Amino acid sequence: MINIRIPATSANLGAGFDALGLALTYYNYVEMEESDVIDISSADNIKIPQDENNLIYISAKDLYNVCGKKLQGLKIVQTNNIPMARGLGSSSACIIAGLVGANTMLGNPLTKDDLVDLAAQIEGHPDNTAPALLGGIVTAVFDGKKVHWVKQEVFTKLKFVAIIPDFELKTEKARACLPKEIPHKDAVYNLSRAALFSASLLTGKFENLRTAVHDRLHQPYRMSLIPNAREVFDIAYNHGAYGVYLSGAGPTIMAIVDENNTYFAGKMKFSLDNAGLSGWQVHELHIDNNGTALI
Ligand code: HSE
Repeated sequence: MINIRIPATSANLGAGFDALGLALTYYNYVEMEESDVIDISSADNIKIPQDENNLIYISAKDLYNVCGKKLQGLKIVQTNNIPMARGLGSSSACIIAGLVGANTMLGNPLTKDDLVDLAAQIEGHPDNTAPALLGGIVTAVFDGKKVHWVKQEVFTKLKFVAIIPDFELKTEKARACLPKEIPHKDAVYNLSRAALFSASLLTGKFENLRTAVHDRLHQPYRMSLIPNAREVFDIAYNHGAYGVYLSGAGPTIMAIVDENNTYFAGKMKFSLDNAGLSGWQVHELHIDNNGTALI
């Protein structure tokens, strides 16, 4: 069996809608081998599709098709730590697991660039799939066929604290609420902040992050789909977060916090409970610079 470890990801990072994403130290595990039949199971009893609609299977089959091979069946054992439909890249983790597993089974006919492209074609945008494969912070432009990307490793004294509600928000729903067009000044507002985010994160100018995470492309429209989101943002800022943003399409809210802010997660949970928001869980994570690995 091939054993694959795939990191969670956080996309958009505020203003970098569909362009910026980073990998986190929170992992799904997938075991895979060729089989005569489709045999999909969950090692942790989390409900997953166990037929040809399983996204790992679909992605593996896509790679076989691209390589002109037929995938008869597949044995897959999934361990899903990354919560589903929470804005932490659970779908991307499945896509990358399928592609990396299939590519490994075929003796690595596709390059890393090919995998980044194919993953973006399956998902529709590259900002979760690319960091899930590559690790670090990834800046990516998808032209519809190819992804033009840069991966940068990040060695900062930062924590990424995921504040995860007990409800799901499907990406399709969170994309359906976005406007078709935006004013020119809003485009300038966003592109300047997305650029500021990367430059500030990578140079350690963390005091810029609070400005850099603001955007006018998606967060204002999605906040109404996430009850109590504004309150959670305020609590995180009150406890000293550098920047707070909707992770991917939400509903998880991500706080970027100094490593020396030792009790942030504990204080956050205490305040959430006091505010009657005990359904929100707090997970302290870091940037994963390695991406997907065979283990
Ligand atoms: N960039 C995507 C979005 C990430 O915000 O819709 C979620 O998959």
